Amino acid sequence: MIPVVDVFAGPGGLNEGFAHLRRDDKAVFEVVSSFEMEPNAVETLVMREAVREVSRRDGGGLYAPYKAMLAGRLQLGQLLDDDVFAAAVARARQHVHRVELGPGNRAAVADRIESATAHAKEWVLIGGPPCQAYSLVGRARRTNDQSFAQDKKHFLYREYLDILKRFKPSVFVMENVKGLLSAGHGGRSMIDRILDDLGLDGTYEVRSLVVQGRDLAPRDFVIRAEAYGVPQRRHRVILLGVRADLGAVPATSLRLSETPVTVHDAIGDLPHRRSRVSRTKDSDIAWIRARELARHLAVRDLGEACRREPVRAGNPELENWLKGRGAPISQHDARSHMELDLARYAFLATLAEHGIAPKVADLPVELKPHHKNIDVAGTPFIDRFKVQRWSLPSSTVASHISKDGHYYIHPDPDQMRSLTVREAARLQTFPDDYWFYGTRTMQFHQVGNAVPPLLAHKIADKVAELLGQ
Ligand SMILES: C[S@@+](CC[C@H](N)C(=O)[O-])C[C@H]1O[C@@H](n2cnc3c(N)ncnc32)[C@H](O)[C@@H]1O
Repeated sequence: MIPVVDVFAGPGGLNEGFAHLRRDDKAVFEVVSSFEMEPNAVETLVMREAVREVSRRDGGGLYAPYKAMLAGRLQLGQLLDDDVFAAAVARARQHVHRVELGPGNRAAVADRIESATAHAKEWVLIGGPPCQAYSLVGRARRTNDQSFAQDKKHFLYREYLDILKRFKPSVFVMENVKGLLSAGHGGRSMIDRILDDLGLDGTYEVRSLVVQGRDLAPRDFVIRAEAYGVPQRRHRVILLGVRADLGAVPATSLRLSETPVTVHDAIGDLPHRRSRVSRTKDSDIAWIRARELARHLAVRDLGEACRREPVRAGNPELENWLKGRGAPISQHDARSHMELDLARYAFLATLAEHGIAPKVADLPVELKPHHKNIDVAGTPFIDRFKVQRWSLPSSTVASHISKDGHYYIHPDPDQMRSLTVREAARLQTFPDDYWFYGTRTMQFHQVGNAVPPLLAHKIADKVAELLGQ
């Protein structure tokens, strides 16, 4: 197996895609080291590694006690007391490293990589330095802010660069946000500088996974996940570095999906959940009151003549990827919302079902938030409510999804709620047997941070090709 080292590993989306690639029923890659500083993401990575190991030994089927934990029949503590699982967790901790990558611990990190890749002729470096500092929102908010220029996150890619320089792995895959393309530093665009640096004076050819050729413009490195089988609009810069001495390895691009994959394909079959009601006492009565109010207003304002959005049949590739191992549905609990928000969600989701992209200004007066600028075009508040549409890919699942329930409204007017962690995970193409450690906020955060594993799997396939597999 070809070793893979994952830095800034998050919950392991990129890593999952590589770990699952098989040729002739044999794994092509083995993730030998992961580095991440956030404790919850580290625990998620450890659990995932352990699950992979015990499931491999079980002939690829899900390990029964883990399955019982996902189904809620076993507590996490009980699973961790299981001797076989506990031993796999202990082994996973040997190569999932909780560490803050930075100049202070470069040598220690290098030692770990050295021992993990010591006997390998070829190996692959994956991961992307975190993106906050390049993000468009971050820059808009922080223009003229001295502390921004000194933000050490701005320079974390140097840690990546340090590993490249020391080890010169055969291939690297680096992911980042699109804001990177327009970010500048010291009068030079960040992407030009990064491309220069990563080339290591001709040691690497930095390629695009979607556009062929050597004379590439920065935008050629942008991958639109929705064009490659992911049910979510997610646009990220992904750089593929190929060491020049690998020779005339074929250059191939990711294959475009024939049809877009939709929200319905991803979450249409999940069990219904009733949202809880906050502020007032949670009760079925409050919930039904909100639903009836929304129904009454929808019939009054929309009439009967409206057309329902067509919902297509499912997508076999996605279905197999998400549900192939028959895992029970976990981490699928609805959040609480105010009673009036429930009615707003139901009304706006009804509009969406009728093919309209609803705005807060479309709410009837009974449901309009009391905000003096509510009817003024261009007010940021106007786009605060966003219904995900059954027949389209979702909007980008962001790491702040936990704080932004209004922006991720479930398309079913009868459920009146924002998305659950499992729904967000499905839109990100995490398989159903992927489990996220930590509080619900931390779970959302991890899900939103990741590279969609199905996309990562397709990238891994191209990397395997480059390495003659
Ligand atoms: C965009 S996420 C990575 C997502 C990951 N590639 C995936 O597919 O799941 C970036 C991660 O870098 C981590 N991180 C940020 N600064 C770090 C540092 N100095 N050392 C280690 N990890 C860091 C964050 O906690 C976050 O989980």
